[in-house]
Amino acid sequence: MTTPDDSYTRTRERFDSEAVARDYVAKKNSMESSKNLREMICITAALDGVGPGSRVLDLPCGTGRLAGMLLGRSYEVVAADYSLPMIEAAKAYRRETGLDATAQARLTFEQQDVMNTTFDDDAFDVVICNRLLHHYPSSETRRAVLAELARICRDRLVVSYYDSFALSALKFRLRNRLRGVTPTDRVPISSKIFRRDYESCGLRMVRKLPVRRGISPQTYLVLAKA
Ligand SMILES: C[S@@+](CC[C@H](N)C(=O)[O-])C[C@H]1O[C@@H](n2cnc3c(N)ncnc32)[C@H](O)[C@@H]1O
Repeated sequence: MTTPDDSYTRTRERFDSEAVARDYVAKKNSMESSKNLREMICITAALDGVGPGSRVLDLPCGTGRLAGMLLGRSYEVVAADYSLPMIEAAKAYRRETGLDATAQARLTFEQQDVMNTTFDDDAFDVVICNRLLHHYPSSETRRAVLAELARICRDRLVVSYYDSFALSALKFRLRNRLRGVTPTDRVPISSKIFRRDYESCGLRMVRKLPVRRGISPQTYLVLAKA
């Protein structure tokens, strides 16, 4: 395992509280938000052709907003996160939104660290890593995470990152320049830099799905082993 840098440790600690988990459910689990809905549409499109019964890992699962959609597609789902408060909030959310017994039996929750999981090689048909990599400004950290996810993924890796080819990424850069600060979180990067990251982990791009092309930096890639 790579020596963790500040962003890795900071991101792990930041979500490791009940208050943050409560707030996250309210902000992120609602499909009334057009942003959340657009992300869900991209992730669903990234799963095109993944058949029922596939083993799918959602890491980090946060407060479990993908679980309903994944179970609805008849996958065997493992939802994992480092933060126990986030996992507890995800379980509570699942109980509140209701699941029949067969769906319930296809869902398990686990505490896992994305850089050092306890899963076997090729343990999952699909691994989804939603809204994590943009918290890591260094290639070294992103590569350590991507390498671990590639190791446990047999077929398809679905990842999101912040692409600098977007209007709001430009605003982000300008705002920080005017303030004279060097941002250390949610930093948009070029697709070229990100390509070097995943290619160095033996991955190639199969599909690119920007949430709002040229406007929002949030972008999904479907990656496969090269
Ligand atoms: C921005 S949230 C995204 C959650 C979820 N993927 C979503 O889109 O709703 C980031 C998540 O990463 C988790 N996390 C941070 N560092 C982690 C690590 N090293 N291993 C596993 N999970 C981690 C946090 O606990 C948090 O739930």
